[in-house]
Amino acid sequence: MNIDRYAVMGNPIKHSKSPQIHRAFAMQTDQDLTYTSQLVPEDGLAQAIREFFSDPSAKGLNITVPFKEQVIDSLQGLSERAQRAKAVNTIIRRESGELMGENTDGVGLVRDILHNHDGRLADKKILVLGAGGAVRGVLGPLLAENPAQVIIANRTFEKAEQLAREFQDLGPISACPLSHLNEPFNWVINGTAASLGGELPAVSSAIFDTNTWVYDLMYGKEATPFNAWALAQGVNQAIDGLGMLVEQAAESFRLWRGVTPATAPVIAELRSGN
Ligand code: ATR
Repeated sequence: MNIDRYAVMGNPIKHSKSPQIHRAFAMQTDQDLTYTSQLVPEDGLAQAIREFFSDPSAKGLNITVPFKEQVIDSLQGLSERAQRAKAVNTIIRRESGELMGENTDGVGLVRDILHNHDGRLADKKILVLGAGGAVRGVLGPLLAENPAQVIIANRTFEKAEQLAREFQDLGPISACPLSHLNEPFNWVINGTAASLGGELPAVSSAIFDTNTWVYDLMYGKEATPFNAWALAQGVNQAIDGLGMLVEQAAESFRLWRGVTPATAPVIAELRSGN
């Protein structure tokens, strides 16, 4: 019998940790599968997906930057979460052959906060910085935790307003210009791409106090610039996105294989650089 095949597609893809994560999950849970990474040209996604699934052993894909929105055109169905997020990071091939799109990013964030860091989101005041694809992917699962309030603030205010409108039926969400933020939050979630350029979003340090927990969706060997700044302001905790990365992968793995892998050993392995 042929071994079930999985892969991650993106551009760039060289530094993706997904193969390492999914191979670790497979070993740990005794699942027979292969997981590879595939560099896809900017205009070649639809073709790459068709070719991959032309092999009956191909069972699922992860999709990463810059294809998470565009991939929707290649699919026959979307989960509710993926519809809301307007983005897909996981493709599941049904028995019928249909390709279904799911988004596990937000679930990954919430699991990392609740289970790995023993954080609380219910009844908390949450500030989300940024209004791009990364933020869109996490708002639904965040609102499902019944926070007291979610405020979205973004350099381009109109995008924050638009997102707040799109998610308002899911809970208490509103938009605020970055420059108007002047009081502390229980949570500050940085979903801007500012860290990529080594920059900080232009926001007052009044958003932090000693009880604030900070989560940067990015991660790196060192503290991200945002987390380093927040820690210097005396926040309670500053968490980076490595745990979210492993948790979103675990949710994909569960959807594909029907078994839930343990994430803590894999997070520890990545953190130690092995
Ligand atoms: P992603 O998929 O990572 O979310 P994106 O959709 O391009 O990428 O969104 C990037 C987000 O980071 C946006 O909210 C962007 O703000 P704008 O909407 O005003 O462009 C934000 N961002 C990027 N660089 C930033 C910076 N230096 N300061 C503040 N926000 C920044």
